[in-house]
Amino acid sequence: MNSARDWIVDRFALRPIYDRLLDRRVPRSPWYAGDGAALMLLLGVQILTGAALSLTYSPAADSAYASVEHITEAQVLGWFVRGLHYWSAGLMVVMLFYHLFRQILLAGYKAPREGTWLIGVLLFFAVLLMSYTGYLLRWDERAVHGVRVTLHMLSRVPMVGESLTLIAQRGPELGPQTLSQLYGLHVVILPLLIVGLTGYHLYLIVQRGTITRAERHQPVETAEHQRELYRTEKTSVRGGEHFFPETAFKSGLMATLVLTAAIALTMFVGAPRLFPEGNLVESSLPAEEWWFWWFSGLIALLPPSIAPWFVVLVPIVAFTVLILLPFVDRGPSRGVKHRPGWAFGVILLIVALLALTDYRRRSPFTGWPDPAPPPIPIGVELTEAAERGRVAFADLGCNSCHPVSGRGRTVGPDLARLTPPRSRLQIEQYVLQPPVEAAMPAYAGRISEEDLSDVVEFCHVAQTFPRRL
Ligand code: HEC
Repeated sequence: MNSARDWIVDRFALRPIYDRLLDRRVPRSPWYAGDGAALMLLLGVQILTGAALSLTYSPAADSAYASVEHITEAQVLGWFVRGLHYWSAGLMVVMLFYHLFRQILLAGYKAPREGTWLIGVLLFFAVLLMSYTGYLLRWDERAVHGVRVTLHMLSRVPMVGESLTLIAQRGPELGPQTLSQLYGLHVVILPLLIVGLTGYHLYLIVQRGTITRAERHQPVETAEHQRELYRTEKTSVRGGEHFFPETAFKSGLMATLVLTAAIALTMFVGAPRLFPEGNLVESSLPAEEWWFWWFSGLIALLPPSIAPWFVVLVPIVAFTVLILLPFVDRGPSRGVKHRPGWAFGVILLIVALLALTDYRRRSPFTGWPDPAPPPIPIGVELTEAAERGRVAFADLGCNSCHPVSGRGRTVGPDLARLTPPRSRLQIEQYVLQPPVEAAMPAYAGRISEEDLSDVVEFCHVAQTFPRRL
């Protein structure tokens, strides 16, 4: 047995790898430091499931949707592969934030690990871009709408808007070439970038280590000082351990938990629902993936006049701040205990992200959510059904286009001013399937029967409201 192992180790020249990577002493690390390993494992899952999907997926605008449908419905285990690709993408974004925040809390970017940090920041943005381009590849109406909304946002960026739009859609208008470009980004360019950067990130982690207990409990003045501490800690009996198996198993634990979560979500929630095929002609309902809800929530809270600036400013500012961090914060203290301000800041950020996500969650379908139902004139008593309809009117995002009695956003007509008044049946039919030329999404297939009859009831009675409140 041993001789077989020795043979393999010798003939495949594995000795240096074993000695340098696995059989080395490192400072002891806690189990919750397994986020890096979890990200690695998720990356592996993404590469495997992505490769499997690429065997069937067709990046042509007229067959992309059908190929995704085929994967989900006809292919053996296709639903599982697609679901796992989706859920590990989502969990990857979540773990990425955990990873980032943990390093900020501990000051993992301080000397001599600035290089590790800078590569990490690039990886952070590459993975976010990856999760965004992936969702567009489905080419269902939600994806096409997503491209439209993005292009629209880009086009409103001051000064360079037009050029940005041309680059992003790869031509004068949104079309098949836009999808080809997204596919190339998602399947070739970004993965190469991510795999390459991850390799270098890991190399740096092996060379420079991750932040240790000793560093967190005393001021570390210089990179030299850190190296000194690190050496003492890893060789000491209490402070150090073997990377393999001790550290590897501990971080493997978290990785396994995260992967189990991805599999469970795939089994119980399933692959993301496909919306009807995008056709570049009809308008549809915008809905980005849940891991970007915080961003839409933020943009929605800003006044429309400055929001377009923020769409590009937020990522640029975030990127700049993260890149500059190790050069600006160069004090000797690391860890949470000696940097309470940083801990407070990170907690504040996490709360803000969660609150914005929830804000967005409460207003499905709308790019500019307004959870407040339309007003009722004083003295008017609504029936129960109409009152429920009034609430549903906001929930379904009708109020992001329709004002009532002069109140609200005016993309569509004011419902108190329809002339001549429409019957319930007319309204119902319109909501389910507006005429093709109308800039209103069809609700057929995505509204429950109760919501439909309630909202129709509300629209019907709203016609009796005064034109202006
Ligand atoms: C993306 C914007 C948008 C959303 C969301 C939207 N509508 Fe509309 N709606 C329009 C536009 C635009 C028109 C007018 C189209 C035209 O006249 O060409 C319209 C027309 C209507 C009409 C008038 C029909 C008629 O007979 O003239 C009704 C009623 C209506 N919408 C109800 C609703 C309800 C109920 C909801 C939510 C379930 C909703 N709309 C969501 C944009 C929207």
